[in-house]
Amino acid sequence: MMWKRKSLFWMKVERRMNFKEEYQKRIDTIEHILRDCLPEPEGYQKLIMEAMEYSLMAGGKRIRPMLMRESYELFGGKSSIIDPFTAAIEMIHTYSLVHDDLPAMDNDEYRRGRKTTHVVYGEDIGILAGDALLNYAFETACTAFDKEPENSGRIGRALQILAKKSGIYGMIGGQVVDVKESGHELPGETLDFIYRLKTSALIEGSVMTGAVLAGASDEETAQMEEIAGKIGLAFQIQDDILDVTSTTEKLGKPVYSDEKNQKTTYVTLKGLEASRNEAARLTEEAVTSLKGLGCRNEFLEELLRRLVYREK
Ligand code: IPE
Ligand code: IPE
Ligand code: MG
Ligand code: MG
Ligand code: MG
Repeated sequence: MMWKRKSLFWMKVERRMNFKEEYQKRIDTIEHILRDCLPEPEGYQKLIMEAMEYSLMAGGKRIRPMLMRESYELFGGKSSIIDPFTAAIEMIHTYSLVHDDLPAMDNDEYRRGRKTTHVVYGEDIGILAGDALLNYAFETACTAFDKEPENSGRIGRALQILAKKSGIYGMIGGQVVDVKESGHELPGETLDFIYRLKTSALIEGSVMTGAVLAGASDEETAQMEEIAGKIGLAFQIQDDILDVTSTTEKLGKPVYSDEKNQKTTYVTLKGLEASRNEAARLTEEAVTSLKGLGCRNEFLEELLRRLVYREK
């Protein structure tokens, strides 16, 4: 019995260590891909390339490209066709952060442990750096056609998903309602709409493009979308929680940003405990659905479980 207990304990410790190592390996791969895809700062427009690199290479959890690659692997994807899409999703996400921090939006001066892009480069270049990252994301993703012209059908479909999930029916749509509906309390229904668009959409787009590029069926892709929708909601709830429970040093971005901008959040609407419970419930549901898919990716399951307890 004693032996059994001890071995279970060590198994847990080992699992924790392996996860950290595995996570770091993936971060290294993603950052390598990002660096490879970035344009060389040169020409009269050199400044914009520097601002792109400043925001993109500042760190960050790289959750979206990681989810994309794990989803690709889950459905048996094996080629480097996923690499340009890996870079593209992180560029789109980074652009959304650069614009989200602008004085006209959340007006935040720190991001990923550094001064925000507009603080360092000025508001004009901050706006243009966001635009540039968005456009360059699609330029980069389109290089997949040159890599594997025989898979142009899948690549086209993945581009379509990426465009839609970043646009007015996705992230941008959510940000619009988020900024326009601040300053007064919102009903839970509106808040869910905002979160499903501003945060879940890019997470859905990540796993869906991974699945489509690997050749998953429409049904499987839709199942991944549903799982990611729940994870995205839980992710934003935890972001709201950290905004009032963490520190700027830990987060690398300002705390109490939501209060400053008079945002309704899950925390203001339901309180801390109910928010924590809701995020945990959504995550459990998502992991259960993922396990039921028929193909397994244990790292992905563990990653989803841990996202809701993240500390930054
Ligand atoms: C921040 O996203 C914006 C939200 C949708 C909450 P992340 O928490 O993924 O930010 P980085 O990429 O790690 O900096
Ligand atoms: C923004 O949500 C989500 C985006 C689409 C950028 P937040 O405004 O809460 O994100 P943070 O807290 O600044 O990262
Ligand atoms: Mg915001
Ligand atoms: Mg913000
Ligand atoms: Mg936030």
